[in-house]
Amino acid sequence: MSNNVTVRLGKENYMSNYSQFPISIKSGKGIVLTDEDGKEYLDFVAGIAVNALGYGDEDEKKALLSVIESGVLHTSNLYYNSHAVNAAAALNKIADSKEVFFCNSGAEANEAALKMARKRGSEKGKSTIISFSHSFHGRTYGAVTVTGQDKYHKGFAPMLPGVVYAEYNNIDSVKSLLDDNTAAVIVEPMQGEGGIIPADQEFLSSLRTLCDSYDALLIFDEVQCGMGRTGKPFCFQNYGIQPDILTLAKALGGGLPMGATLAFEKAKGIFTPGDHAATFGGNVAAAALAEVVLAKLPGLSAEVARKGVYLHEKLVDIVLKHPDKAKEARGMGFMQGLDLKIPPRDVISKCMEKGLLVCSAGYTVLRFVPPLIATEDDIDKAVSIVDAALSEL
Ligand SMILES: Cc1ncc(COP(=O)(O)O)c(C=O)c1O
Repeated sequence: MSNNVTVRLGKENYMSNYSQFPISIKSGKGIVLTDEDGKEYLDFVAGIAVNALGYGDEDEKKALLSVIESGVLHTSNLYYNSHAVNAAAALNKIADSKEVFFCNSGAEANEAALKMARKRGSEKGKSTIISFSHSFHGRTYGAVTVTGQDKYHKGFAPMLPGVVYAEYNNIDSVKSLLDDNTAAVIVEPMQGEGGIIPADQEFLSSLRTLCDSYDALLIFDEVQCGMGRTGKPFCFQNYGIQPDILTLAKALGGGLPMGATLAFEKAKGIFTPGDHAATFGGNVAAAALAEVVLAKLPGLSAEVARKGVYLHEKLVDIVLKHPDKAKEARGMGFMQGLDLKIPPRDVISKCMEKGLLVCSAGYTVLRFVPPLIATEDDIDKAVSIVDAALSEL
């Protein structure tokens, strides 16, 4: 048992739905975090792909201070606020989408997408939603139902009706399920929690064609792989395939809770007043940070494309050096995974001891999702710690 007071109080007072590491984070600068005991960590977790601009970004600080000085942190959606409107306009411009709904999390962004699919479907006599093996879409009932992993359903039956599961990257398995009753297909262009698995180009192209021919909506969940992480502002832009609905969260709010559901041409106008809502959606403070992140997004993603290749090459070297412990390096940009032959948790703990934060994805993968500002020098330091950790295990 840790003797840190915060860790002890957390264990006493929280529900035990997380398996937490026994450190408490106190401050951060750049991509370095400091815990309450003064130990520093190079952060390759970024609050699980959230903190794109790292810690202490001056523009985020200014934006947040100006919101605080205005006295208005929240307005409700009965009224407009310029920060949320500007963030929506920026999203539509960069994604080439038509309209935006703001909420507070990835799960909520997906709930909105699923409701849009069912609403449009109800007018056309369609209701089935196709999802994929190893997918992850969140923990609310709709989002967890379309999550194609049994471990997230266990104990929570009955799930949402009308959801079927195809095999990721296997278009024949989709063809066997898709029919005139299909309202939508929901897919991560790169699976995150399922183990950092990029979609094949051919698979996504065929999904687009099939959805068009059956008049089903194609929903891309980019809650994790969006917002510059894969070297383009949005992951679908790596493939040149546009969805009908795009869901975002994580990095969007610059560290504050924010999710978004974007509608493209085919999904435009599905929601009408009263159909859906979120009290905090488009919250002033979160939207002010989103404006900052979105202004930097095109520049940041171009940098990530370059630095991501460097990170990937370094991880390939690790696989070559430790063939007994690592199987494969895969991913795009700053969303990389190292598929291991030993439990990721042992490596994570060893790295933590040595001053590096990394996390797992799926059962076997060590995940690297640093802030998008991480440099080649940071990558060298992080990979040398992973190298040392694997040598010692
Ligand atoms: C692809 C994807 N979708 C949805 C979610 C759920 O997001 P949230 O935890 O913000 O509800 C996650 C979270 O990891 C995710 O990776």
